[in-house]
Amino acid sequence: MPVKHYNIILKHGKDILESDGMKTEKICIQHGTYTVFDHSLAVTSMCISISKKLRINVHERELVRGALLHDFFLYDWHERSLANSIHGFTHPGIALRNAEKVFKLGKIERNMIRRHMFPLTPIPPRYRESVILCIADKMCATKETVSGFRKKFNKKLRRVHNNA
Ligand SMILES: [Fe+2]
Ligand SMILES: [Fe+2]
Repeated sequence: MPVKHYNIILKHGKDILESDGMKTEKICIQHGTYTVFDHSLAVTSMCISISKKLRINVHERELVRGALLHDFFLYDWHERSLANSIHGFTHPGIALRNAEKVFKLGKIERNMIRRHMFPLTPIPPRYRESVILCIADKMCATKETVSGFRKKFNKKLRRVHNNA
């Protein structure tokens, strides 16, 4: 399915999309059957849609780059481990550290990545771009998780139907 606002995403984030980190994101599952890459692209697109629909004056380049990098943690958080059990709290910091090793980030992008899990992590986002990301991330995560449940349910239903 074509990604909405892909031209804007490409204009500001081509180097990120082509980075080695994004290759890792393409093989790591985020929610349901969605990879971290799919999720990051969907969240970025949603951020642009929200800013346009609500006519919020944003720094478009920062919005795109911060959103693309918000889950740049680069590991499979579904593997059972003590570290992964607190992934929700720790991954914004890890994503920020990873992103800063490869890309030059400004204060808006840094804040977007660091604070995107609010209110799970207690410090609220500081900039309008960070608030938009925080909302877009939750909207996309919910959509992806529900679609995963639906696919699983339909698969089960088909199996029951075939065995009947
Ligand atoms: Fe995240
Ligand atoms: Fe996310």
